Amino acid sequence: MANMVILGAQWGDEGKGKVIDIFTRKVDFVVRYQGGNNAGHTVVIDDAEFILHLIPSGILHERKICVIGNGVVVDPKALLEEIKMLRSRNIGVDGRLMISENAHVIFPYHRKLDELKEQKLKKIGTTKKGIGPCYADKVARSGIRMADLLDDAVLKEKLLANLDEKNAILGKIYGAPGFSFDELYDEYKGYAREIKKYICDTAVLLNDAIKKNKRILFEGAQGTLLDVDHGTYPFVTSSNSTAGGASTGTGVGPTKIGKVVGVVKAYTTRVGEGPFPTEFGKDLMQKIRQKGKEFGATTGRPRRCGWFDSVIVKHSIMVNGIDEIVVTKLDVLDDLDSIKICTAYRFEGKVYNDFPTNGRVLAGCEPVYEELPGWKEDTTKVTSYLKLPRNAKNYLKRMQALLKTKIVLISVGCDRKQTFSKDS
Ligand code: GDP
Ligand code: IMO
Ligand code: MG
Repeated sequence: MANMVILGAQWGDEGKGKVIDIFTRKVDFVVRYQGGNNAGHTVVIDDAEFILHLIPSGILHERKICVIGNGVVVDPKALLEEIKMLRSRNIGVDGRLMISENAHVIFPYHRKLDELKEQKLKKIGTTKKGIGPCYADKVARSGIRMADLLDDAVLKEKLLANLDEKNAILGKIYGAPGFSFDELYDEYKGYAREIKKYICDTAVLLNDAIKKNKRILFEGAQGTLLDVDHGTYPFVTSSNSTAGGASTGTGVGPTKIGKVVGVVKAYTTRVGEGPFPTEFGKDLMQKIRQKGKEFGATTGRPRRCGWFDSVIVKHSIMVNGIDEIVVTKLDVLDDLDSIKICTAYRFEGKVYNDFPTNGRVLAGCEPVYEELPGWKEDTTKVTSYLKLPRNAKNYLKRMQALLKTKIVLISVGCDRKQTFSKDS
């Protein structure tokens, strides 16, 4: 089996955690390539629910190696909490977790700046985990990387320089207190002692593994429409959650990645601010949010819900080169009399079949809908495609025809077992 990227084709929370867990059986390595603990990936195994924020979902499988690539931003406090949570549930990470020495480190001033910017300036609805400010430092070439944590002199020099700048911004722009060098230095030296054993050159590790024919699964976080280049900018995250990020975020070249799988929710959700053409009105929003348990796995915020939007998923298929699709949460639509699919947008009298990248246009777009009859049957116990109600099959067929991309797997519940192949 080829090395593959599994990523979200909408605005995140498509059920990537569940799908990655299923594919993990076939691979040797599971690798996160971007984002940080803004992600929340849920895996349910026999009634036990695990939510992973930073550590690849593959950690739940014994003997799989999990890698946090250079493209990820790592909050060491959150990382150690996650390791502790896993240990308390009898899942050891030692010898199976590797972190790139080039991954950037999130500091408390990143979290604070994220929070203050959200309060006082433009609201994006971020997770306030410090993700944006940490990536901003990375691109500004002033960030602190994992390798720097291990070198006292370098850490001291870089932290002093960063604090000079951050404390001035905190005080002068936000009227907030600054951070003490001594306290942060001691705190992060403490983290460095605990994390040191996981830090290595993960690009070499992964490329050596490929030479030995080991198989790699690249675990996308967030979703395509949250990608900083291809998403609904500025209402996006600060990394490349699209397939290209798997190369830049790990040091594995694109020629070594054989397949891209897109995870698509049977409807659409989004957390935070920004345009959402197919967003439901109040009643349907309540109904689907309750039925789909659409509350953020990281922040607990209610997710905004809407009809399936083929315009955004076609855009995702294009910018990621998606080969195959997994459809999740089909069961959430079980009770509906009829179901809408957005096939195009209309803006100022013009019809858009392609996703408009101009934010002002997108914000003003009205969806063009097609309506299909619902199936009004419980699908959560269905174990094969053939046994799905006829109208559920028709819904999937229409989706596949609009997307011109093969649906390979269908998910009808949180559990591993509630998944079947389109060919079954
Ligand atoms: P991720 O960020 O893409 O990994 O997705 P999240 O874990 O944030 O959100 C997906 C939620 O839907 C989780 O609570 C999953 O347990 C749940 N889920 C996944 N697949 C299905 C499905 O087919 N049906 C239902 N009802 N829930 C699902
Ligand atoms: P997973 O991996 C859904 C959203 C936030 C906000 C925007 C920017 O679980 O699918 P950030 O904190 O990243 O600067 O916030 O991105 N966001 C997510 N939405 N799922 C996620 O991750 C998200 N990670 C970030 O709500 O709108
Ligand atoms: Mg999530």
